Amino acid sequence: MGIMDEIKKAGKGISRALKDITSAPFVQEMCKTTANMYRLGWDERNGGNISYMLDEKEVGEYLDLKKVIRTIPFMGVNAADFDAKPLAGKLFIVTGTGKYFKNVQDDPEANLGIVRIAQDGKSAELLWGYKDGGRTTSEFPAHMMSHMARLKVDPENRVVMHCHPTYTLAMNYVHELDEKKFTHTLWEMCTECIVVFPDGIGILPWMLCGTNEIGVATAKKMEEFRLVVWAMHGIYGAGKDMDETFGLIETVEKAAQIYMLTAHLPRKNTITDEGMVQLAELFKVNYRKDFLNLK
Ligand code: 13P
Ligand code: ZN
Repeated sequence: MGIMDEIKKAGKGISRALKDITSAPFVQEMCKTTANMYRLGWDERNGGNISYMLDEKEVGEYLDLKKVIRTIPFMGVNAADFDAKPLAGKLFIVTGTGKYFKNVQDDPEANLGIVRIAQDGKSAELLWGYKDGGRTTSEFPAHMMSHMARLKVDPENRVVMHCHPTYTLAMNYVHELDEKKFTHTLWEMCTECIVVFPDGIGILPWMLCGTNEIGVATAKKMEEFRLVVWAMHGIYGAGKDMDETFGLIETVEKAAQIYMLTAHLPRKNTITDEGMVQLAELFKVNYRKDFLNLK
């Protein structure tokens, strides 16, 4: 036997030690983000869900990627209409359906799961988590369709986040649900708004959640917007990492809060459209010019 064969033979006996998954940065990020969202009042009870696309090599340091615990069929979809094949083989860490954001930090293994989209694009293979028999969020089809839509526009997109932020929701009841008018009102509420979400906000009318239809409609809006309001329900955000996605929703919610604190009072001052153009040009963002009322 040559020296190379001997090295290979010896190597086979060595199994690489896996690191503790609960210490993984992506698990920690999910814990911290869900806790923050809960404390901000965006995720009462089981409200809200997050899916975060992971790097296979990084996850491989913590999990044996060949070990599938069980297969989880997608809920709420008609298998014939739904196809997540473009995401086949991709790994996601996802909040569980019915799980409370306030509990994620104390027990990530029960409230979160790491799944791989199966080759047929119709189910998810569980690699870790949902330890009490849980499954992916009921909004998983909408998340997967949104990931597919955003990846076409931005190959760096990794996160889709849904929640029920209080003031954004309140605003749904008293403001016209027109994308231009809604975005414009929010842009007027904080100087930073047009810089943070220059692409504006897409709006869907009230629809039944957890279905294929709302997933298709959300994904269609996501081709154009990183933020989509589900009227009288909540908001979807998408971004390249947790901070960007959280920051988008946080900025909308702050602007909606200022709107709700002032909407019933006589308006004395405002940020002008010309001022917004100056901001967008200074920060070099590609903004929706058709959402302004320029002379
Ligand atoms: P899940 O508990 O299934 O994630 O649903 C929460 C939610 O916000 C539905 O829109
Ligand atoms: Zn919801």
